[in-house]
Amino acid sequence: MNLKPATLSRIDELITHYPVKRSAVLMLLHAIQEDVGFISNESIEWVAAKLELQPINVYEVVTFYPMFRQKPIGRRHIKVCRTLSCALLGGYKTCATFEKEFNTHRGEVSPDGEVTIEFVECLASCGTAPVVMIDDDLHENVDCAKAKKLSEQIKAEAKQR
Ligand code: FES
Repeated sequence: MNLKPATLSRIDELITHYPVKRSAVLMLLHAIQEDVGFISNESIEWVAAKLELQPINVYEVVTFYPMFRQKPIGRRHIKVCRTLSCALLGGYKTCATFEKEFNTHRGEVSPDGEVTIEFVECLASCGTAPVVMIDDDLHENVDCAKAKKLSEQIKAEAKQR
């Protein structure tokens, strides 16, 4: 499995935080997803071996928690809040704007491989709804016009690559 050396050392360090190795399973899965974007079957087997578990034990964790992805995502990850405040203030329209801008649907990788758009639950910034996270950055008051602007920014950044 192709994990970055920094991720491998982080994983070894994380395991030391727990009296029983297997308790580190969630933390390891988060570290791997952060590094490679999703949890493959190969990752599941790797984590199982590392924590002296059966692959099925790790698979159950991956499929139980919705935050773990089993498919690759686009280079940029757009997460649109759909909980009450955001939904009432136009979060669904915001999401539709991103989908239109990138010619894609929620949960899929856009045809250019640039983005994956997803709905998420409350991002803890309800007072500035609708709220969107792009990778690790929170964006507030994202109405359709702002969603369009952010999309243009992402496209411009992609061209510079
Ligand atoms: S409802 Fe969207 S941030 Fe809380």
